[in-house]
Order: sequence, then C-alpha cells, then structure tokens
Amino acid sequence: MEPLEAASLDALLRRYREVTVDLGTGDGRHVLRRARAAPDTLVVGIDPVADAMADSARKAARKPARGGAENALFLVASLERLPAVLRGRATNVTINYPWGSLLRAVAQPKEEGLRTIVELLQPGATVVALLNASAGEREVHAARLELPPLEDPGHVERELVPGWERAGLEDVRWRMLDPGEDPPARTTWGQRLVRGSGRSTLLVSARTPSASTAS
Ligand SMILES: C[S@@+](CC[C@H](N)C(=O)[O-])C[C@H]1O[C@@H](n2cnc3c(N)ncnc32)[C@H](O)[C@@H]1O
Repeated sequence: MEPLEAASLDALLRRYREVTVDLGTGDGRHVLRRARAAPDTLVVGIDPVADAMADSARKAARKPARGGAENALFLVASLERLPAVLRGRATNVTINYPWGSLLRAVAQPKEEGLRTIVELLQPGATVVALLNASAGEREVHAARLELPPLEDPGHVERELVPGWERAGLEDVRWRMLDPGEDPPARTTWGQRLVRGSGRSTLLVSARTPSASTAS
C-alpha cells in the first residue's frame, strides 16, 4: 500500500457522486464486491490493519477484465484517525460486525466516536451498521470489554437510539435479523459469525438531515 496525499484523495472523491465508506472493513472483500457491482460509486474500505486489506487492494489494482476495480480504495486508518478530507463526503457509511472502539462508538454508543462517523456523511446520507448482538452475552467478557447488551431491546431503545439521535442522525431504525435471513452486506465476518451459529445480528440504520432541513 502506498501513501495517498490529501489532494489526490480529494481529486478522487470529486470524480464520484456516490461515495460509500466501509469502516472497519477487515479483509475488504465486501468493498471489492460492491465496487465491482457499482462502478459509478467510489467504495472506500478503512481499517487500521493494512495486512488484512492487502489482498483485496491487489485485486482492485488489476485490469477490469481480470477483476480489478478502479473505484475501490483501501485506506489504512481508524475511527480515531480518519483523513480530514473525508469529512462530509460520504453518501453512505457501512459498519459491519465491528469490534473494539468502533463497536463501542456505534453500540454503546460513545458520542465522540459516533459524531466522527456522522461527520463523514453528506446531508441526506445513510449509515447502516450490522452488529453481532451476541458478542456481549458472556457477562465476564462483556464487562471487561465494555460490550453493550445488544440482545436487550431496552438497551437499544434507551441508549443506542437516543445516542444516535444526539449525534445528529434521524430516522434511526433497528431490528434483529431473522434467523437465516441474509444480511444487507455479505462480509467475511458476517458469514463466520452468523451463518448457522445461532448468533443474532442487530441491524441499525439512520440518515443525516437533508440539506434543506440541516441547520
Ligand atoms: C470482526 S472484524 C469485521 C471486519 C469486516 N467488516 C467484516 O464484516 O468481515 C472488525 C474490524 O473492525 C476493525 N476495527 C476495530 N476498531 C476499529 C477502529 N477504531 N477504527 C476502524 N476499524 C476498527 C478491526 O481492525 C477489524 O478489521
């Protein structure tokens, strides 16, 4: 992976009307699939672990006839250190099966981290998170890792939804996926965690106010 100057990233972002940012992208396979399926959308995978994304980045750099996708971009960064040039540029942010501080930002939720995510979005843009709701089921780990009780609808209604609204999001919706239901994003961890395991997945979505209603 090579360093990308802010000006080059800015120029790339200007070439696309639709920009999807997949935060905590892991191996980036989902980004590559989305980019191939939507050539008019810039799909940006972000993860602090460069090695995990390397294979997908290599594949994206191939010629289109060999599976390449020039609209797929992989950035080594984290929620805590996002490129400033990305602010206000995304039309869609996806967060799939996060862990660590990314999970806490979205699910507890932690206001500062969540605001950083919201700052990525254009007016009228969407954020969609798929959360492993069973992660906090073992109480010992849950307390040590500060895992929120996502299988508890009371937590989601009393903490998560108001937290997303305080961070500037509206139309916050959530539901548990039905057992066997295909999630909106097919990611490596989603398949590993959910398929046939009996674990539950929480789907949360929201959007930023549209330009006409944003103050
Ligand atoms: C369970 S993996 C999910 C990977 C991928 N989204 C998927 O569904 O296959 C969680 C990912 O979150 C990333 N992550 C954890 N904390 C993060 C943070 N603060 N900012 C960005 N990514 C983070 C990890 O590096 C890891 O790749």
